[in-house]
Amino acid sequence: GKAGNKIVIEEFLEGEEVSFTVLTDGKTILPLASSQDHKTRDNEDKGPNTGGMGAYSPAPIVSKETHQKIMEKVINPTMEGLLKEGMIYRGFLYAGLIIDEKNNIKVLEFNCRFGDPETQPILMRLESDLIDLCYQASKGELEEVKLKWNPEVALGVVMAAGGYPGPYKKGHSIKGIPSESETLKVFHAGTKAKNNLITTNGGRVLCVTALGKNTADAQIKAYNCVNKIDWQDCFFRTDIGYRAIERES
Ligand code: GLY
Repeated sequence: GKAGNKIVIEEFLEGEEVSFTVLTDGKTILPLASSQDHKTRDNEDKGPNTGGMGAYSPAPIVSKETHQKIMEKVINPTMEGLLKEGMIYRGFLYAGLIIDEKNNIKVLEFNCRFGDPETQPILMRLESDLIDLCYQASKGELEEVKLKWNPEVALGVVMAAGGYPGPYKKGHSIKGIPSESETLKVFHAGTKAKNNLITTNGGRVLCVTALGKNTADAQIKAYNCVNKIDWQDCFFRTDIGYRAIERES
């Protein structure tokens, strides 16, 4: 019928997806550390799309030149456009980008929030106080602020319920969650606490995030912890960070 009267031609985007988040008070723009997540469920970036199965920061694909290009071509024009339209945007702006082999940058999406699970490795590296930053952004006082970062790499592995992103069961009791430290944190997403028992209560259940001297080191530390945590039908990828490790080596 008429369904064929209109044809939509879309550009096929090749490259790697990168998350680039800035904090702004509407005038000053503070880029956060770069990060990259693995969107698909299975190893080698295969299988169905999810909200993210793991992430790391920094993303080696975002070189100094690429960082500058993202600011010039994407972030600054966006902020100028918002101002021109009379909007004083205060908060986090997260651009989902595709960067190809020739360093061409395409915008996939903008979000008015942090990314999940990119935030977990970013916050492991952030040494400035997040609450102060939010407050200063809300008051238009970011001009004097300098963000402080831990130079190490942080890597987070999402532990999910078997079946996710399709149907999955809830209510399995989780064993082996270690106590947290400055270099290892287990972020809870889909969990529930009852009578001193932590049970699964969502698709993406935990994000085990570790700091290391490089991506390979952070990966080993994160998986050492992941391998000690368990529940019935627990699922996780075993290759989070592989692109960054290839780049580093
Ligand atoms: N990790 C993708 C997102 O937060 O949208």
